[in-house]
Amino acid sequence: MVQLTTSEFRSHFPLLTQRTYVNSCSQGALSTDVRAAMQQFLDSWNREGSPWEAWVGEVERLRSTFAALIGADADEVAVLPSASIGINAIASALMFNGPRRQVVMGRFEFPTMAQIWLAQRQRGAEILWVEPENGLLSVEAYARRIDERTLIVPATHVCFRNGHRTNIAALAALCQRQGAYLFLDDFQNTGTGPVDVRSLGIDFMVTGALKYLLGPSGVAFLYVRRDLIDRLVPTMTGWFGRLDPFAFNVDELDWSPAARRFESGTPMIPNVYGAQAGLKLLDAVGVETVECEVTSLTARLIAWADDAGVEVITPSEPTRRGPLVVLRSVDAATLVSRLAARGVIASSRDDGIRISFHGYNSQEDLDSVIASLEAESAMLKRSRVVRR
Ligand SMILES: Cc1ncc(COP(=O)(O)O)c(C=O)c1O
Repeated sequence: MVQLTTSEFRSHFPLLTQRTYVNSCSQGALSTDVRAAMQQFLDSWNREGSPWEAWVGEVERLRSTFAALIGADADEVAVLPSASIGINAIASALMFNGPRRQVVMGRFEFPTMAQIWLAQRQRGAEILWVEPENGLLSVEAYARRIDERTLIVPATHVCFRNGHRTNIAALAALCQRQGAYLFLDDFQNTGTGPVDVRSLGIDFMVTGALKYLLGPSGVAFLYVRRDLIDRLVPTMTGWFGRLDPFAFNVDELDWSPAARRFESGTPMIPNVYGAQAGLKLLDAVGVETVECEVTSLTARLIAWADDAGVEVITPSEPTRRGPLVVLRSVDAATLVSRLAARGVIASSRDDGIRISFHGYNSQEDLDSVIASLEAESAMLKRSRVVRR
C-alpha cells in the first residue's frame, strides 16, 4: 500500500479545490477513488449482468477491511445498510422480562439510538436517562444510574449535536463491573483516530461509512463481541442472516455462527464498492495522521473562538472532544447559508454551528473558516466568560 502525505490525501478530493468543506460530521467529501469504485460497480453490472458471486465477495472484502480498522475479527462484524438496522437487530435479540430490564442512556445520543430503545418499552424495557452537568456527561453520572437492574448502556462516543466526547473505556469498565452491556455508537468518531474495540472493552458497536470513513450513505457496520454472537438470537432477520443464504431454505432458521446473523436482506452492492474505496484511502493516509491533523485544527479553532469571546458549546478539555467544534449562534441555520455563500460548507443543530474537520482539511481551510466567521461575527453568540 502506498502511504500518502496529507497534501497527497487532500488532492484526492476535487471538492476541496472549490469549497472550504468542514461538514464531515454530516457526510465525508467525495474522493476520486470512491467515484471510480462506484463506477467500477456500474461497469461490472453493465458487463456481466448479475455477477452476484463477485459482488458478495466485495461485501466480504469490506467486512475484513473494516474489522482490521477497529481491531476485530471479520466474523465479529455485520455489514448493514444503516446503524439503525444494527441497533434494532441487537435490541430484538434481548429480553426485557427479567430483573435486568433497564436501558441507561445519556442525553447526547443520536435520535435513532434513543428512539430504538424507547421502542423497546412495549417489550418491557425501562429507560433511565443520564443528565449532563455543566455540559459534560461524566462516568460518575452514569455510575449513579447503572446497577444490577441495567441490561444495556447505549452510548455515543462523540455527540453529533455538541461535539462532546464520552470516556468510553471508563464507561465500559463500569458496565463490566455491573454486568451490563455497553453499546457504542461510534459514528461521529470512527476514521478520526485509532479505534480498538478490544482495549475499549465494549460489547457492541455501530458506525457508518458516510462520514469520516469517506464512503457513501447506505453502508454501516455492527461489531459484536465474539462470545456474545451465538447467545443472541434476533427476531429481526432475513435470508442473509442464514448459515448459507443461497441454500434458499424456507423450512429452517439456521443461524450464521458469525455476526452475519444480524444481517437481513440483499447487500447494498454499489455502496459497498464505495465504502471499500473510502476505507482504503483512509488507510493510505493513516488514522493516526488524521487524528494529528484534526486535533490541531480543532484546538486552533477553539483557541480563536476563546480569544474572540465566541461561545463554544463543545467542551474545552481536549480529551472531552472529537473532530467536531460547535459554536453558539444567534441564528445557526441562517449562519450556515451565509457561510455557504462565502464558500464554507458547515451545518447546524439547534443554536449551534457545526464545524468538523477531517485529515483532508488544511490550515488554509481553517483560515477561511475563521475569516468567514469574523465577517459574520454578528451571527455568533458572545460568551460572558473568557475561557483562557
Ligand atoms: C452518532 C450518530 N449515530 C447514528 C447516525 C445515523 O444512523 P443511521 O445509519 O441509522 O442513519 C448518525 C448520523 O448522522 C450519527 O451521527
